Amino acid sequence: MQTAHSLDVLRNSIGKLRSGSNTIGLVPTMGALHEGHLTLIRRAREACDHVVASIFVNPTQFGPNEDLDAYPRQMEEDAAMLQSEGCALLWAPGVEVMYPGGPENFVTSISVRGVSEGLCGASRPGHFDGVATVVNKLFNQVQPDMAFFGEKDFQQLAVIRAMARDLDLTLPHVLSIIGVPTVREPDGLAMSSRNRYLSPTDRDAAATLPRAMKEAIARIEDGQDPSPTLAALEDELLGAGFSSVDYAVLADSASLAPLNRLSGNAARLLVAARIGGTRLIDNMAVAG
Ligand code: PAF
Repeated sequence: MQTAHSLDVLRNSIGKLRSGSNTIGLVPTMGALHEGHLTLIRRAREACDHVVASIFVNPTQFGPNEDLDAYPRQMEEDAAMLQSEGCALLWAPGVEVMYPGGPENFVTSISVRGVSEGLCGASRPGHFDGVATVVNKLFNQVQPDMAFFGEKDFQQLAVIRAMARDLDLTLPHVLSIIGVPTVREPDGLAMSSRNRYLSPTDRDAAATLPRAMKEAIARIEDGQDPSPTLAALEDELLGAGFSSVDYAVLADSASLAPLNRLSGNAARLLVAARIGGTRLIDNMAVAG
């Protein structure tokens, strides 16, 4: 596996990988890789001739009181994992390569209205602008045929799909955005780089999240009113040791507009809740 830290080396390496019209799959990450990321790499390997993974902890998607400095960084370990999964190229730009002059002097931002405004967008102002902008840069830099994102970050995936559609990135035969189902621990907790922040007690209690979500989904699919069902889900999380619930929402899968009841279209239950200072998010499909 080659590693590129500069745009010149990246372009040169991509040019070689592309020779003979080989296809390229991009897996954008912020590192601290786990089985969820490796599943994206495997999926990309099945679909494309070569896989490029990026590792960049993007400062513009972290709020002032968020965990940018504390975000786990383990470049050597990550590179070894990518190599053993058959990744062809690691794109690992520094902040000065991605934002020459510093993020504070970067004057362009992509803002995706609507889909980025509720849910995590409500409590993390500017987060999805940072995500959309850096993902757009990654697409321009690597020019992949396909890009792979986990459904664990369901709203992020919706924002990226909307941006790619509106900016004509997904014209036929240019770029396909592939969503890959969430990978879970044996007790159901969605894998996340942030799970490592959890104390052993909080880690045990965190498994209440997927369990309570499944129970709520079963009730909603059974015809119960979503509103009291979601209120009961919040109470269950608070009773299990979560300190707060940012949201527990039934939403349309495509627009992410909140739903008071099932409408026959694909729906999703999305939850964000805090435990021991760590914010966990999860989402699951709800049969219409
Ligand atoms: O999901 C992530 O790891 C990040 O938000 C992404 C897509 C790599 C953009 O920084």
